Parts: sequence; C-alpha cells; structure tokens
Amino acid sequence: MKTINILILASLAATVSIISCKKESAATVARTPQLPDEVFKYDEISTGSNGFNPAGNFVIDNNKSTLGRVLFYETQLSRNNRVSCGSCHLQSAAFADVAKLSNGFENAKTIRNTPAIINAGTQTSYFWDMREANLSAMVTQPIGNHIEMGLDQPEYILAKLKKLPYYESLFQNAYGSSEITMDRVGDALSNFVASMASVKTKYDAVVMGQTSFTAEEERGRTLFFNDLPCGSCHGGENFSGWGSMTQNIGLEMDYVDDGEPGTDWMTGAQRDGWFKVPSLRNVALTAPYMHDGRFATLEEVVDFYNEGIQPHEQLSFMLREGWNGGFGPFEGDVLAGGDSVSGVQPLRLNLSDNDKHALVAFLKSLSDGNITSDVKFSDPFVAASN
Ligand code: HEC
Ligand code: HEC
Repeated sequence: MKTINILILASLAATVSIISCKKESAATVARTPQLPDEVFKYDEISTGSNGFNPAGNFVIDNNKSTLGRVLFYETQLSRNNRVSCGSCHLQSAAFADVAKLSNGFENAKTIRNTPAIINAGTQTSYFWDMREANLSAMVTQPIGNHIEMGLDQPEYILAKLKKLPYYESLFQNAYGSSEITMDRVGDALSNFVASMASVKTKYDAVVMGQTSFTAEEERGRTLFFNDLPCGSCHGGENFSGWGSMTQNIGLEMDYVDDGEPGTDWMTGAQRDGWFKVPSLRNVALTAPYMHDGRFATLEEVVDFYNEGIQPHEQLSFMLREGWNGGFGPFEGDVLAGGDSVSGVQPLRLNLSDNDKHALVAFLKSLSDGNITSDVKFSDPFVAASN
C-alpha cells in the first residue's frame, strides 16, 4: 500500500514538473528552426509526363530554398508574430487551406479562398484575378497585405528578421553574405515555393506507361478530355490552361467578387466573375473549391458543372450548348462579326451517376501524396516547440 502511494505521488510530482517545465519553455524559449545538418536536396526535381519540368525556369538552389522554408513558416513576418505563409497554405492540403476563407492576422478573413501552391515556377500569373506575373515579387505581397500578415513597411520587416539569430548563417549560405534585403527575402521564398514540384501522380505514371488506370478512371479521362469541355480550359501539364487564362464559368448571375478587371471581349461590358483557371493537380487534396470556397467536395463541383451553370451573359462560350470545340465561339458566329453568344443556353451535361463518379475518380488520379508528406516542405519550427 505504502509503496503504491509513494509511486503515485512520485509520478504525480513528475507529471507536475513536466507540465510546468513545458509551460516555461513555451513562454521563454524563442522559436528556433530545426534544420538538417546537410541541406535537403530541393534541386532534385522529378520530371512529369511528356518531359514536363515542374520547376519551370526556376533554378532551384538548395540553400536558397532552405532559407525560403524558414521564411515560409516564420511567424515573425507578420505584425502580431502569429501568422506565417504556412498558416494559410497548409502542407496537409497541398498548400491550400481547408477553410473557405482563411484567418489572417487579428483574425480578419481573407476575401478569397487560399489556393494551393502547385508548380508555381511554371505558372505565369498568380492570384485568382491573375494580378501578379512575377513570383519573386508576388511572394512578399502577403506580408504587406493588411488582412494576411499586415507588415507593410519593408524596414520594419528587415529589422525584425535581423534580430533573429538564425538568419545570419542562412542568408550567408544562400547569398554569400549575411545581408538581409527584401529582394533576397522574395528570392528565397520564391525559390522554396517553386521547389514544391508536384508530378508524382498516378496520372503521370499512366502517361509514362508505368501503370494503368482502372476502368472507372479511364472513363473519367475520356469524359474530361474528349466528351466534355473540361480539358479545353484545364489543359496543359498543370491542368490549368496553357499559361494565363481567366474565365467566367457561370457560378452566379451577379458576382459578389468581380474577379479580373477589364472588359469582356465578347460583349465589351465591364468584366464580372472572370477568375483564373486553377490547376487541377492535387485537387482532391485542396477542398473547398472555387475562388470563394463555395463547394465542399469534388462531387459538388461536378454537380455544378452537370446542372448548375448559370446563364450569366459573360459565361464562357465553352460552357454553352452547341460549342463546336473551335477557338471561335460557334461555327458562323465568330468574334470578328461582333456577334454575341450571350443568349445561348448554358451547357447541361446530363451525366449518369457512374459518369460523375468516373470524373471524380479521374480527378483523384492527379494527387501527389508526396507533397503532403515530404519533410523538406514541412514546418521546421514544429520540432523545436515540442
Ligand atoms: C491569411 C492567409 C494567407 C497568408 C498568411 C498567405 N497567403 Fe498566400 N494566398 C492567400 C490567398 C487568400 C490567396 C489568393 C488571393 C487572391 O487571389 O486574391 C493567396 C495566393 C497565394 C499564391 C498564388 C497562388 C496562385 O496559383 O495564384 C502564392 C504563391 C502564395 N499565396 C504564397 C504565399 C506566401 C509565400 C506567403 C507568405 C509570405 C503567403 N502566401 C501568405 C492566403 C494567404
Ligand atoms: C471555360 C473554362 C472552364 C471549363 C470548360 C471547365 N472549367 Fe473548371 N474551372 C474554371 C475556372 C475559371 C475555375 C475557377 C472559377 C472560380 O473560382 O470562380 C474552375 C474551377 C474548377 C474546379 C475547382 C478547383 C479549385 O481549386 O477550386 C474544379 C474541380 C474544376 N474546375 C473541374 C472542372 C471539370 C471537371 C470540368 C469539366 C466538366 C471543368 N472544370 C470545366 C474553368 C473551366
């Protein structure tokens, strides 16, 4: 009896001291990144199907990406020291957010759904409205964005980074001098972001002849590329259109968020609801969907394309009845004549349940599970606070 009591007391005491020790370390010890002795090999980029290089023109440098990884998860880059790029771009969701809209600093919500980061070095336009074309310039924008991170003065950002002891050697290794500048911050962040290459998918393996699709996935592929217009917009190796394209897909009759500014080249009216054609790589990992995160599942997205497209007057001609698959809207109804197709009914796909499932099965074949588990893209600060 006595020994048992003593044992219980001893273990209680141990627990209490562990708890108090944990509390103390969380409060007093600064966050320090845990980095490998030898830098990870960010520059080992796999090639996808059809010789696709998912890093694009980026020359991936292991030391720059190492620094970029620390900056990506650096909460000190936000005004209240709580938000990092990784707070909204979650590795577990292929660097998208699982929330419809994300929490920025002081819990203000972003106005759009956080997109996945996919083969960013191959893309030529960023954001849902494609407002930025340069990745290195783009990546520092969230820091200054009042909702996202709220640090709008470069001097203030640099002063904060200079106070953190681990940056000196990281900048030294990446740039040959420990000087911290905004250009270097943007360069390192973009190097890391561009190294998030995503081509290890079943789809790529099938195209390269290493495996084959199930009958259902094969049916989905035929629907996607041949029977339905999906591949006309979500084409190319990223399934994102060839480069930069915004389209109105008829999500609603009057968009709350206007999307890309400019005029509609068919009607000449102010654009309403034109958004970037997003990459569908990893799409099964990046719910919820669309610029406003309105759909929770891929099944809901397919239902929308099947029967929910709205007859918005700027709806893409590719999503209207009777489109002939050509570059002009319809045979004999070409743009040069100034004709408008805005009266033509939206497409109704009339898919069977089997075909809907097949389409979703095909979309799932675009997932690269590696991206969600590869330690070189993970938060280096996590291990330190354990
Ligand atoms: C508070 C949430 C939040 C934080 C923090 C955040 N982002 Fe984003 N990110 C977004 C949202 C929302 C968008 C889309 C905005 C839009 O389209 O107008 C976006 C867009 C992007 C894109 C463009 C993707 C594409 O294909 O168009 C990249 C790249 C990106 N962010 C990288 C970063 C980096 C790097 C950081 C850190 C410096 C960061 N983000 C911090 C929410 C966030
Ligand atoms: C006219 C061009 C066009 C066609 C055709 C098209 N899409 Fe899209 N798709 C888009 C655009 C643009 C968006 C984003 C729209 C928005 O957020 O307002 C999108 C969004 C999506 C999304 C959500 C992606 C995300 O990350 O949020 C999925 C999934 C998708 N499309 C699948 C398909 C399928 C399946 C088909 C065929 C039935 C198809 N699309 C046909 C242009 C197109």
